[in-house]
Amino acid sequence: MQMSKGKVSVTHWARALDSGMDVVLKHSTLENSRCFVEAGLLARVSGCPGVVKLVDTISLPDCFVLVTERVGMHCVELRDYIDDNMGEDGNVGLREDVARLLFAQIVAVVQRCAEKSVVHCDLSYKNVVVDTLTSQVALCDFGAAMHSHSGYFLEYHGSAQWAPPEWFVTKRYTADGITAWQLGVLLHNLICGAEPYWYPEEFARGRALEIDSDVVMSSACRELLFSCMAVKEEERLSLAEIARHPWLSGVADA
Ligand SMILES: Nc1ncnc2c1ncn2[C@@H]1O[C@H](COP(=O)(O)OP(=O)(O)O)[C@@H](O)[C@H]1O
Ligand SMILES: [Mg+2]
Repeated sequence: MQMSKGKVSVTHWARALDSGMDVVLKHSTLENSRCFVEAGLLARVSGCPGVVKLVDTISLPDCFVLVTERVGMHCVELRDYIDDNMGEDGNVGLREDVARLLFAQIVAVVQRCAEKSVVHCDLSYKNVVVDTLTSQVALCDFGAAMHSHSGYFLEYHGSAQWAPPEWFVTKRYTADGITAWQLGVLLHNLICGAEPYWYPEEFARGRALEIDSDVVMSSACRELLFSCMAVKEEERLSLAEIARHPWLSGVADA
């Protein structure tokens, strides 16, 4: 059954006849040479908890197929999970404790990838799936991922919607800079149930983040969100700083 159709790939789910395993097949055309990079980087992180598991790769004459284990019969994309659960207890987005449970898992899996020198570069609510029974998250789609290093990246393969502001201005970004920005956008999605902007270029022109007055969040959460989405890259938190932020450890008010 077809699950999604991207610009250069089509994703289906299927059941393997021999093992009975539910799998996701991502077919990419061979013009998309990134599919081989995706397979290589996914192979590096595939054993990490919270990353979809690579089962196989298949090279056919006209396409390349990446086979991953389907996360579970009850999994949904994070954007659908937010839509289905927002508005509880008078919150505009998800309840803050629920948002923290999900965000902490996302940060932990991004850290595990960083330990394997992989930076995802397309963290978004479309590329995080949530098991609705266990609330466990899994990160998929390494199609824009890069081998991490401490310098600047000069190529960006993710969606323009989640590109950090500096990409629009300087056409370069760092691993920590893009990661903090995209985690900030995700945190905004979780807490506010909406996008932080219509056009990402607005931030490149210097617009600062504004939160709708009807959104209620703790001061610690607000501080984390603004520190991830600082327009100036050098003012954002590093991944390590995000991971030990008081809001995530639950020490700060929720
Ligand atoms: N292993 C998986 N288990 C469950 N769902 C998955 C899995 N891999 C991908 N998906 C779903 O399929 C969608 C498309 O896959 P993705 O790799 O993101 O392709 P694209 O590059 O077209 O965005 C994802 O947004 C996610 O909802
Ligand atoms: Mg995707």
